[in-house]
Amino acid sequence: MFVNPLARRDLIGIDDLSKDEIVFLLDLGNRFEETIGRTRVMDLLHGFQLATLFYEPSTRTRLSFESAMQRLGGQVLSVADARTASSAAKGESIADAARVVATYADILVQRHPAIGSAQEAADAVEIPVINAGDGAGEHPTQALLDLYTIWKEKGRLDHVTIAMVGDLKHGRTVHSLSKALACWKDHLILVSPPALKMDSHLVAYLGQKGAQVTETDDLQLAINEADVLYVTRIQRERFSDPEEYLRLRGSYTINRALLAARPDLTVMHPLPRVDEIATDVDSLPNAAYFRQANNGVWARMALLAALLDRLP
Ligand code: NCD
Repeated sequence: MFVNPLARRDLIGIDDLSKDEIVFLLDLGNRFEETIGRTRVMDLLHGFQLATLFYEPSTRTRLSFESAMQRLGGQVLSVADARTASSAAKGESIADAARVVATYADILVQRHPAIGSAQEAADAVEIPVINAGDGAGEHPTQALLDLYTIWKEKGRLDHVTIAMVGDLKHGRTVHSLSKALACWKDHLILVSPPALKMDSHLVAYLGQKGAQVTETDDLQLAINEADVLYVTRIQRERFSDPEEYLRLRGSYTINRALLAARPDLTVMHPLPRVDEIATDVDSLPNAAYFRQANNGVWARMALLAALLDRLP
């Protein structure tokens, strides 16, 4: 008998999943894309409720979780602005809020500005907790949909050279994605201004995990060598000094002219973008970022079905 190893688990950091479990989820997401793409809905999660508790702004992550849940037949309880619209504004702790929500819902998706906040919620409750971003920490479900996108666009996850560009210090998506890609021993080219380099402990860890890591501030080198260009926003909300942000914003801007020699270079971005990808890139066939956003629904469907132990 098949025992679902993901049943009832939390997802706090991408390393909570083994490589095999990631592959399982991507494959399941692909099955959902094929089925739901045709039928629009299934009743797999009928009777289950998902709570989304977001203490930080979100468009894609929250709505794609809710879309995923509803298309699988489940229901959603949503607090889009938990910082001001929940009892957090009265001083309630993350743990207390999670405890209460866990009495209403079967699974909790939380986003919060503090590193470690998702673990704090998970420690307080029995239901599965999914980290939808804990400050500058991790964003593991974004990594799942990013992997799904690379797999779809490139046909493989191994032997990929991916250049991650921008705010590698504060960007939680690149923290999770780089760890995940290290499972495939990929080549990671980390492109950032010196002030926004990826934390050296994380870089060392990626190397230990088997990734080949190159750190540079040279965007052109990355464009020449990479299969995938993963562009990120400078994370303004993480800067204590607004001047420092103004100094660093606009460090890298990708435009159509820069990409002209590389029609095979897949361009990704977790979104929202500010000015780091010019809009003249959008119509290129290799601009994958809106397809990437759509893939969030399939990846999150797979995760919800697996954690709620209702595999098709
Ligand atoms: C990212 C995030 O929230 O970390 N957005 C997202 O979930 N797609 C990236 C960002 O905000 O820059």
